[in-house]
Amino acid sequence: MMFEEYLSHALDSILPSNVKDAMLYSLMNGGKRIRPLLLLETLKGYGYKKELGYACAAGIEMIHTYSLIHDDLPAMDDDTLRRGKPSCHIAFDEATAILAGDGLLTHAFALAAQATNDAVKNERIVRYFSRYAGCNGMILGQTLDIEAESHTSLHIEDLEKIHYYKTGMLLTLPMVCAAIITGHESDIPVWEKIGECIGLSFQIQDDLLDITSTKEELGKNPNSDAQNHKQTYATMMKMEEAQKLCDMYYAKAKKLIEQLSFDNTGLFTILDALRNRRK
Ligand code: IPE
Ligand code: IPE
Ligand code: MG
Ligand code: MG
Ligand code: MG
Repeated sequence: MMFEEYLSHALDSILPSNVKDAMLYSLMNGGKRIRPLLLLETLKGYGYKKELGYACAAGIEMIHTYSLIHDDLPAMDDDTLRRGKPSCHIAFDEATAILAGDGLLTHAFALAAQATNDAVKNERIVRYFSRYAGCNGMILGQTLDIEAESHTSLHIEDLEKIHYYKTGMLLTLPMVCAAIITGHESDIPVWEKIGECIGLSFQIQDDLLDITSTKEELGKNPNSDAQNHKQTYATMMKMEEAQKLCDMYYAKAKKLIEQLSFDNTGLFTILDALRNRRK
């Protein structure tokens, strides 16, 4: 079974409701599935079948999708387009979108708890889900991001911190989980550094694409950052400098991956595709 098909059935145990419809609407709505891909390719690089990571990858994609649903709400970035379709709160309503986000987050933990058939590994995975998605992780990043809208004198280090938490954490989690699933926990510190690099390069690029890409390419409304008075890598330095920094972080991620005893072919292909993305 392909991962996409697995994901489409991952909410089957949930009773029918308007909120379930909204959860499915946002989840099965054409995301790039970067985080699942990172997890599955890391498993493959360690010599394991990608199917072993489906439950965990689905859980991470649910947390990511919840973060996007809430990120688009009027109280946050107030965006009406996501993944080429009306944002969840536009297609449904705000209350349903809030609850759909809550539902995806909650269900993700049920998947994490049964990620493998080893209870010790599952417990570790649940802890990492909580740490990386929570208030020392992605939520902290989103908090700092919203606060920064009213700060006029932001420094590059502040922005780096925001990006590290809001984006880097959920892009690190897949590789950390793959290391746990395959019994390579001693590699986790290296994956954390790799994830930081991938996160920063990914979000710098997201900031650049917000300005340079089109609505059709992006599947989101461009210039959202300017409308929200956000300072980004694209406003705090020249675009070419930001692109160089983005490339530098991808190169650094690859160098770190080369340190591991690991077949990096699949993961390098993903990183190259990310570097050249238009959405
Ligand atoms: C968007 O993530 C939010 C960021 C962290 C920049 P993606 O670019 O991975 O979004 P989807 O999942 O493909 O929609
Ligand atoms: C959001 O960053 C990161 C999340 C944790 C959701 P952005 O606000 O820049 O993401 P987009 O551009 O709306 O996808
Ligand atoms: Mg945002
Ligand atoms: Mg946003
Ligand atoms: Mg953005």
